[in-house]
Amino acid sequence: MKVAVIFGGQSTEHEVSCLSAASILDNINGHEVVPIGITKSGEWFFTNASSKDIASGRWTELEKYPVFADLQKKTLICCGNPLAIDVCFPIVHGKNGEDGTLQGLLELLGIKYVGSGVLGSSVCMDKITANRLFESAGIRRAKWFPVLKGVNDGLEDIKTEAAKLGYPIFVKPSNAGSSVGITKCFDENGLEKALETAFAIDSRLVIEKSIEDPTEIEVAVMGNENPIASGTGRIISSNEQIYDYDAKYLSGTSQTLIPSGLPNDLENAVRQTALRAYSYCGCKGLSRVDFLIGKDGEININEINTLPGFTSISMFPALFIATGMTYSELIDKLICYALN
Ligand SMILES: Nc1ncnc2c1ncn2[C@@H]1O[C@H](COP(=O)(O)OP(=O)(O)O)[C@@H](O)[C@H]1O
Ligand SMILES: [Mg+2]
Repeated sequence: MKVAVIFGGQSTEHEVSCLSAASILDNINGHEVVPIGITKSGEWFFTNASSKDIASGRWTELEKYPVFADLQKKTLICCGNPLAIDVCFPIVHGKNGEDGTLQGLLELLGIKYVGSGVLGSSVCMDKITANRLFESAGIRRAKWFPVLKGVNDGLEDIKTEAAKLGYPIFVKPSNAGSSVGITKCFDENGLEKALETAFAIDSRLVIEKSIEDPTEIEVAVMGNENPIASGTGRIISSNEQIYDYDAKYLSGTSQTLIPSGLPNDLENAVRQTALRAYSYCGCKGLSRVDFLIGKDGEININEINTLPGFTSISMFPALFIATGMTYSELIDKLICYALN
């Protein structure tokens, strides 16, 4: 198979995507890889760079060839020739990668791809929409309400609603990722600033009650009609309040525990909930489903990431590797799901 690995992109998770792509390039077996990088300004290039240069970001300084989408011929074009691709593995996180836009382009080009389609991708990217779906499926989450710019964004009204939830609360952009624009507010004094911070990212916000001292649990799910769930993994963030960008990628002191150590019945309940949420939101291929378990053991779903970090030490691959699969087998399996 000729597999186009698309990486990089314009979101805050550009660097993580490059690391994920490098891991895929290093471990993919029995396929010809066509690496396509998207710069931070959104230009697409075919690159011959080594996985090391892709991981470090140096690929952008090396020789690279512009890639165009030809909607007449329904193909990607490079150097005047069609790129004959059997399947695409987009590993672009966040905006314009994980949100259905890239998937829409691949649909228009008639190229098969790993991961969720337009619907599943966009639904899971938008916290307001995903929350509504979780609720309609009877999947528990922290109490919340939406705030829409120009609709219900009056400070006094928001204060009244927030007081009903009870502090502390989280103020989040509906569409973002990497904890960007998220603030934890301990009382109404911080609310105005938190709203400003989140509105700088998105015109749609989520305000939700904080689950205090949560156990952060993640489950990897893969497949199409009959998906399978890994065991659970646990995140212990170096930042006590928010597992944020710094804690995730920079400080290097956050820990992941596999297995998570949840009691068996809770472990199984979380896995079943992850499968239900995955199917209910129309996910395909792969996703990481994240939970916040409360002190009484109540299972709150937090979010679904349809293109989670994919380095060999990232939670998604690590959870399936823990079931006995190799990283290379995992890539193969995802390619099979894409072709079916
Ligand atoms: N309701 C909540 N209660 C407790 N902690 C939360 C809550 N919502 C978010 N967090 C913390 O903030 C982090 C980022 O929030 P999340 O909704 O996952 O944003 P993102 O989509 O940017 O990853 C979570 O991993 C968790 O540590
Ligand atoms: Mg998250």
